[in-house]
Amino acid sequence: MRKRLALFGSGRGSNGEAIYKAIKAEHIEGEIVLIISDRANVGIVEKGCAWHIPVHVVDPTHYGNGEAWTQAMLDILQEYEVDGILLAGYMRILLPTFVQAYRGKILNIHPSLLPAFKGMQAQKQALLKGVKYTGCTVHFVDEGMDIGPIIAQAVVPVYEDDTVDTLSKRILHEEHRIYPEAVRLFCNDALEIVGSRVVIRE
Ligand code: GRF
Repeated sequence: MRKRLALFGSGRGSNGEAIYKAIKAEHIEGEIVLIISDRANVGIVEKGCAWHIPVHVVDPTHYGNGEAWTQAMLDILQEYEVDGILLAGYMRILLPTFVQAYRGKILNIHPSLLPAFKGMQAQKQALLKGVKYTGCTVHFVDEGMDIGPIIAQAVVPVYEDDTVDTLSKRILHEEHRIYPEAVRLFCNDALEIVGSRVVIRE
């Protein structure tokens, strides 16, 4: 059975596009059944429309509190009978109620080798720290920020003359490779969470 996936994004949508293309190329036993964004005029919304995938803009500032916002998203996900949620450049922290409803079914990509450089501007944090290597991580989302069980990582070198821009590009190239691969494994039920680790069974 193909997994029914929801894609969450707030911006450009290049990771969403990499996953969409991998699905089109039949590398992934799944389909993106809806897109949720917290912003209206962003790349991921435009892409969703071009792909003829239903897009829901759910802006938390339109709800009185976080629980009402969370419930609105849960209602939509239930309507589409979603099996998995892919956060791809989604710039909001999901509340525990949301995470608990889809525990083990929410994936995220982060532009660093977690647990290093959690949170915002991970590439800038890496440059400031002077690390020689950084990279990206796909992980399951739990109640903490950027700390859920790790599914996949890729390493890139950091060069003396790197800027946030050049480093981000190098990392993004790897993001577009490992995120679709992690989604493929998820859709094949090949990922098992054992304690705080992910074991790949394929
Ligand atoms: C990526 O660098 C991702 O790791 C981070 O936000 C960026 C999103 O880019 N979470 P895009 O919207 O997928 O192009």
